[in-house]
Amino acid sequence: MLIGESINLTGVGKQFGGKSVVEDLSLDVKAGEFISLLGPSGSGKTTLLMMIAGFEYPNTGQISVGSRDITYLAPNRRAVGMVFQKYALFPHMTVAQNVAFPLKMRGAATKDIACRVSEMLGLVQLAGFESRYPHQVSGGQQQRVAVARALVAEPPVLLMDEPLSALDKKLRESMQLEIKRIQNRVGVTVVYVTHDQEEALTMSDRIAVMSGGRLVQVGSPLDLYHRPSSPFVAEFIGKMNFIDGEYLGSDQGTSCVRVSKTVTLQSRDATGAQLAHFRTGAAVRVAVRPEQIALRATSPGSSKDQLTGTVESVIFVGQAHLVLVRMEGQGGSLVEVHVPSGARPTVFAQGEMVVLEIDPADVKLYPRDAGRTR
Ligand SMILES: Nc1ncnc2c1ncn2[C@@H]1O[C@H](COP(=O)(O)OP(=O)(O)O)[C@@H](O)[C@H]1O
Ligand SMILES: [Mg+2]
Repeated sequence: MLIGESINLTGVGKQFGGKSVVEDLSLDVKAGEFISLLGPSGSGKTTLLMMIAGFEYPNTGQISVGSRDITYLAPNRRAVGMVFQKYALFPHMTVAQNVAFPLKMRGAATKDIACRVSEMLGLVQLAGFESRYPHQVSGGQQQRVAVARALVAEPPVLLMDEPLSALDKKLRESMQLEIKRIQNRVGVTVVYVTHDQEEALTMSDRIAVMSGGRLVQVGSPLDLYHRPSSPFVAEFIGKMNFIDGEYLGSDQGTSCVRVSKTVTLQSRDATGAQLAHFRTGAAVRVAVRPEQIALRATSPGSSKDQLTGTVESVIFVGQAHLVLVRMEGQGGSLVEVHVPSGARPTVFAQGEMVVLEIDPADVKLYPRDAGRTR
């Protein structure tokens, strides 16, 4: 059952009381794709979703589903399913009646409705719950009812606005997999709003990162994690350490950055399209993920040109030890290092001097003036 259709947003803009909330936003979502809108609170995610659903109209731009322009179409004529943060089930209707509701509104035949409802409840693994009322099932089950109700009329597009944020962590994680499974089964195109980067990484084919009403980067989870186009994305998806430095120059794809009087770091940042813009002496920010730094004990032979620091704290977080290192030089800034807690990890003690080793391929460079908001 392949029902997904593509979504096309072109130059979409929305203002509320003269204030621009979504600005000149263009995005193509492929048929059957799972795309997340990820961004901090107030970045315009819900507003964008509401425009796709038809509960808000854009001031500029165009929205189409498949080849249909739906920019100004009424919500009930869009064939778009919607799941909200609050499940918004009808409390006086049973589970089966809730799921049947969209079909009833369309005037479907009673026996077709019954068939379709039991098919949908099977899909969301709620067979047997037909005659319960929403208050008689758990939060996770209510959310699955909402998903069944949103999908029952086979919409080509399913919109979800932070549907799991009211659930606790364990349930949220199992529901993420559950929603993915359902989406795979029915092939519906999903636009999924979340402010939770882990959720976006887990569920999405692609993630569209939003800030201040604009798209700052769109890409696969791996793309965004390994090739963030800005410090904002780097910090928003995963953890990132930043070290200030001075750009010295580059040769055959390897750039040199001075990060203290005696220490120079190398970067082979294949993604650094902006490299071309750096001039010798430019203020840059070196960025490294915590798991891409290795710690070694200092030895008498350690030379002055190595990056060194003092272990400030070691925290065991299950899959890793999180080590905070106060750097030598660098105004004593703190660097976070993740040491996997595999077999016999070398764990350093508080107060110990360590050398930080980083593969130049894992070192990214950004201009220092690249704001943290974009
Ligand atoms: N109906 C509205 N009237 C006025 N301002 C609104 C309205 N809806 C949203 N906004 C404003 O638009 C901005 C983006 O909101 P929203 O789309 O809800 O962001 P997000 O979902 O990313 O948290 C916020 O500053 C919010 O206050
Ligand atoms: Mg929102």
